[in-house]
Amino acid sequence: MPVNAGGMPDVVDRLENAGTLDPVVSAVRRVVRTALSSQRVKDALHGVWLGHPLHPPLTDLPIGAWAAAGVLDAVPGTGNAAATMIAAGCAGYVPTIFAGWADWSDLHEQQQRVGLVHAAMAGIAFGCYTASLAARAKGATLRGKAWSYTGLGFVGIAGYLGGHLAFRQAAGVNHVESVPHLFPEGWHEIGRLEDFEEGEPSQARVDEVELLVVRRGQHVDVLANTCSHLSAPLSEGSFTAEDGQGCVVCPWHGSTFRLSDGAVVHGPATAPMPRFETRVVEGSIEVMLPGAG
Ligand code: FES
Repeated sequence: MPVNAGGMPDVVDRLENAGTLDPVVSAVRRVVRTALSSQRVKDALHGVWLGHPLHPPLTDLPIGAWAAAGVLDAVPGTGNAAATMIAAGCAGYVPTIFAGWADWSDLHEQQQRVGLVHAAMAGIAFGCYTASLAARAKGATLRGKAWSYTGLGFVGIAGYLGGHLAFRQAAGVNHVESVPHLFPEGWHEIGRLEDFEEGEPSQARVDEVELLVVRRGQHVDVLANTCSHLSAPLSEGSFTAEDGQGCVVCPWHGSTFRLSDGAVVHGPATAPMPRFETRVVEGSIEVMLPGAG
């Protein structure tokens, strides 16, 4: 584990390893998975349709509106404008939190510990802004401002932890972006047809790049083997068919990728898998990155 110089990064590193949070993580995960049992709803919340996780762009709504309220509260003569922005931020918080919980439920345990506290900070911020609106409605403007500035502090902590999840812990990022840069140009032999079991996800390798190979008769599909969600080996997953098309199901969180083009059929992954051209030459399978011949 890398050692930090101290301060906030050090605190968050300790948070990643805070096993005391695990009973709460397990209980919340059970609730979230029960509430989000519909695959269609989960795919929508993950952002499969968008090709990116949905939660990060949605956070712009509450963060932007609540930050604007902080500026408006500091400017004399802006009337109810700050309250309007706070209400808009509270409305934007609702879809944001659903998308966040959907992503959180399919993370590693260290990520879930940080994510739990991230969500708690955001939830406290939401509570502060709700209290701010209630105070303002009663004409207690000063109290309302105090609540909203307190909420902004919690938004800042939640944002820091969200950044840690994305940039340090690589939650939500594409874990196969490097594959096209690592794969050598041209055609490369990966074995003979009979080396690969019919209809079973199998593994091969070209230089540093692990490959998933699925053979059906003389037809061979090859994708990168590292799941774009959180790097599981897809060769340990299972073969399935969706809408008549061959797919592989990730062994860790069930992301489903179409073999013909690497597209995401079901999340939590949102980034497609790199796919390779294949050909069979005298019984040997050869692969090439598309356009790299
Ligand atoms: S590693 Fe999570 S779905 Fe593949």
